[in-house]
Amino acid sequence: MKLVLAPMEGLTDPIMRDVLTHVGSFDWCVTEFIRITDSILPDHIYYSFCPELKNDGKTAAGTPVHVQFLGNNPEMLAANAAKVVELGAPAIDLNFGCPAKTVNRHRGGSVLLDEPETVHLLVKAVRDAVPAHIPVSAKMRLGYLDENHTLDNAYAIEDAGASWLTVHARTKADGYTPPAYWEKIQPITEALKINVIANGEIWSTTDAKACIEQSHCKDIMIGRGAVTTPDLTLCIRENKNTPVLYWQNLVELQQRFLSGQFKTEIGMIGRYKQWLGMMTKAYPEAQELWSLVKREKQLDKILEYLNQK
Ligand SMILES: Cc1cc2nc3c(=O)[nH]c(=O)nc-3n(C[C@H](O)[C@H](O)[C@H](O)COP(=O)(O)O)c2cc1C
Repeated sequence: MKLVLAPMEGLTDPIMRDVLTHVGSFDWCVTEFIRITDSILPDHIYYSFCPELKNDGKTAAGTPVHVQFLGNNPEMLAANAAKVVELGAPAIDLNFGCPAKTVNRHRGGSVLLDEPETVHLLVKAVRDAVPAHIPVSAKMRLGYLDENHTLDNAYAIEDAGASWLTVHARTKADGYTPPAYWEKIQPITEALKINVIANGEIWSTTDAKACIEQSHCKDIMIGRGAVTTPDLTLCIRENKNTPVLYWQNLVELQQRFLSGQFKTEIGMIGRYKQWLGMMTKAYPEAQELWSLVKREKQLDKILEYLNQK
């Protein structure tokens, strides 16, 4: 079974990828989406989205980091893909799932699921632009407002030469509201020859098993569940529903996170609070810590509270 860390803009940034791949046994992770419009992005933009490019395209733990693009311009997607592969990206993923209004208004992300021919064109353009040994994959939702084109899009992606397809088991209209319809991935898994990876609402080992059973996928991608419970992949691999990591291990992870590179202290604190807030759902100790640090604006103070835990 392959376990993949989901791309999540504003959440699975390089620091979070470092921390989560340090603990978890992910097969690979995917960058936050990089929007491609009408130019070839400069190196520094690539290094800021994916500093792992300087480490052979891997996190410090050695987990490959695939670079995700979002856009609708085949020539520019192709040119940027060729460039980022030269910089060291081990694989390219294309985003056909983003529900953001501004992105969709510019014909990017999930809105393209109403145009399977465009989806095909974009995947093919990128596939043709990078060397054969570099996988090109796509990530889609079941559809934009409806599921009329689910299989058309899946075939469009396969026929364009994608190495695999990840499916977030909801339409854009479903947003992020549970449930994820894992069973609706099953016809895709059955129809395609390429591998299909299931995604959406996997928060526990029980969910992972149910998702695999209902989707008929062998492999899964995990997003928010992995941030909320950093040992989720370990639990899934060990077939356990009880935590593998203790709070002390999580304190060390938080210290690692807070010692990461971030542009500004306030930015780092914001990100840390976002993570701690998510962990309060899983750990009572995180709730206690949250009540101490929620108004704190200084990193030193936060570290002090953390070190006392
Ligand atoms: C904050 C946030 C940001 C996201 N950003 C991206 C992104 O950049 N690219 C992408 O393909 N999906 C993105 N997603 C969707 C996730 O990759 C994933 O499909 C979704 O969260 C469902 O999986 P989960 O229930 O395991 O979190 C994002 C989701 C969240 C919550």
